[in-house]
Amino acid sequence: MARSTLEIKDLHVEIEGQEILKGVNLTINGGEFHAVMGPNGTGKSTLASAIMGHPKYEVTKGQILLDGEDVLEMEVDERAQAGLFLAMQYPSEISGVTTSDFLRSSVNAHREEGDEISLMKFIKEMDSAMDYLEMDKNMAQRYLNEGFSGGEKKRNEILQLMMIQPAIAILDEIDSGLDIDALKVVAKGINKMRSDDFGCLIITHYQRLLDYITPDHVHIMMQGRVVKSGGPELAQRLEAEGYEWIKKELGIEDETVGQNA
Ligand SMILES: Nc1ncnc2c1ncn2[C@@H]1O[C@H](COP(=O)(O)OP(=O)(O)OP(=O)(O)O)[C@@H](O)[C@H]1O
Ligand SMILES: [Mg+2]
Repeated sequence: MARSTLEIKDLHVEIEGQEILKGVNLTINGGEFHAVMGPNGTGKSTLASAIMGHPKYEVTKGQILLDGEDVLEMEVDERAQAGLFLAMQYPSEISGVTTSDFLRSSVNAHREEGDEISLMKFIKEMDSAMDYLEMDKNMAQRYLNEGFSGGEKKRNEILQLMMIQPAIAILDEIDSGLDIDALKVVAKGINKMRSDDFGCLIITHYQRLLDYITPDHVHIMMQGRVVKSGGPELAQRLEAEGYEWIKKELGIEDETVGQNA
């Protein structure tokens, strides 16, 4: 796969008539890791859902382009096929579909018809990724995420990431609920993806994750927009000082998307 670029331009998104995103601008190139931070309820997950095409989120203005192609014209499965991947803040449980079957279908959905991955090769690759992520092999035969612990679900998202090898991934709070060892393993998996062919948007609340994954760019969301961008030092300052200084600097009183103009 060639180096990709995801461009988000002046994105406005409404949910049930209420505007949540109010003009997001962000460009992610292959080879780059971007962290998106920001207080609760400022539109981070909404941005992730809108990029992946969640039906509840209506784009009222702006553009999302993947290598110049209009993502907003694509169905959800077409977005995945085009190379986009989302690890959700709350991964869903799918009863009746094993993790292994789900992974194999996802991998094959990214390949041409007639060029499906052989079962042998698939199992070999899955085993090796599971070893890398220190996962119990029995998980593969369990229904997707059903009864998985919070940490197991997050690890399973990274397993999908490693197997699917998307061009651009959005990881929404992939670190939430992880113990220290699991956090390191998840970070190891994400770091293994680093290449010019892979760009990543990491939504997180904590510098802790960024101690293990060094972002190239850090963006702060407030009021449904990216209000400030910088390098890794921006995340470090947030950890030390919180968000108050940014609100002061920008004259923001209420950072949520609430009823702001
Ligand atoms: N499906 C929905 N229906 C109604 N309101 C929604 C929906 N999804 C999001 N919202 C509202 O949009 C706002 C932004 O939510 P979002 O989940 O994007 O925040 P966030 O920045 O990801 O917050 P957190 O850090 O807590 O995960 C919130 O006020 C939320 O209640
Ligand atoms: Mg969120």
